[in-house]
This record gives sequence, structure tokens and C-alpha cells, in this order.
Amino acid sequence: MKTAYVLNGPNLNLLGTREPAVYGAATLADVEQLTRLACEQHGLELVFRQSNHEGQLIDWIHEAGRLHAQGELAGLIINAGAYTHTSIALHDAIKGTGVVCIELHISNVFAREAFRHHSTISPVARGVMCGFGVQGYALAISALAGMQASAS
Ligand code: DQA
Repeated sequence: MKTAYVLNGPNLNLLGTREPAVYGAATLADVEQLTRLACEQHGLELVFRQSNHEGQLIDWIHEAGRLHAQGELAGLIINAGAYTHTSIALHDAIKGTGVVCIELHISNVFAREAFRHHSTISPVARGVMCGFGVQGYALAISALAGMQASAS
């Protein structure tokens, strides 16, 4: 069984109380639960994590990269929060490990402030999921599973 890595960046631990008009009422624990259910439905193992620290996210991408090298990674889904808009280090980690990456945002970043329209991750992502609320996590798992099925 392959593993899906789902990494969440800064401030996503505040889901449920953070700007509910933008991000909804679900907590990160709720998001983990719906993601786990989607993984069960698609026969994937799940590693689900959150950090407010860029270096920690990079270490976890390297960890996912080692699974990728062993042929055991279905892919990496990353909601890098605001680091999406600034982090060349996250870009380099994704590129350097060669993991299949889906960039995810709960909100439609293109309908928001101009500084959210630029992403350092998009150029190294297989696809981008944004604006579907927390259901985007389940949709992204389904997308990874679809890629697995078409590769085998
Ligand atoms: C976000 C969008 C980012 O612009 C923002 O900084 C976040 C969350 C989203 O999930 O919609 O922290 O990635």
C-alpha cells in the first residue's frame, strides 16, 4: 500500500477559529479525519502533519522523498499556507526530491489579495487544488489515487 503525505503549513492549526468566513468551521482534526476516510476509500496510507516552521516542512518533504525513491509514495499534498507565496526553499525541496506534488488551498487564492496570486510551489506541482474548501483534501487524495491507477 502506498502512502500519501499531507503537509500543512503555518496557521493551519488555527482552522475552525481562523477567519471562518474564508476557511470554514472545520478544525484541522476534522480535515485529518476526512482525509483519512478518503485514503481508506482509495487504499492509501496517510501521513498527515502540520507545522508553523518552514524548515520542519522541508525535513518532511525530504522524508516523503525517501519513500518516493523506494517507490512507496503515492504523492505529496501540501497546503503551505503563506509560505506558498514566499518560499523558494519549499520549491527547491519539492523539485530536489522529485515527489509528485499537489498544491492545495482551501480558499480560492485568485479571488483574494494580489499577494496570494503568486506561488513558488505551482511550477513544481503536478496540479493545483484551490477554492473547494476543506473538501479539496479529499479531492486531492482522489487525484493522487487516479494517478496511481493510470500508472499501473
Ligand atoms: C491558504 C491560502 C494562503 O494564501 C494563506 O496564507 C493560508 C491558507 C488556503 O488554504 O487557502 O494560510 O493556503
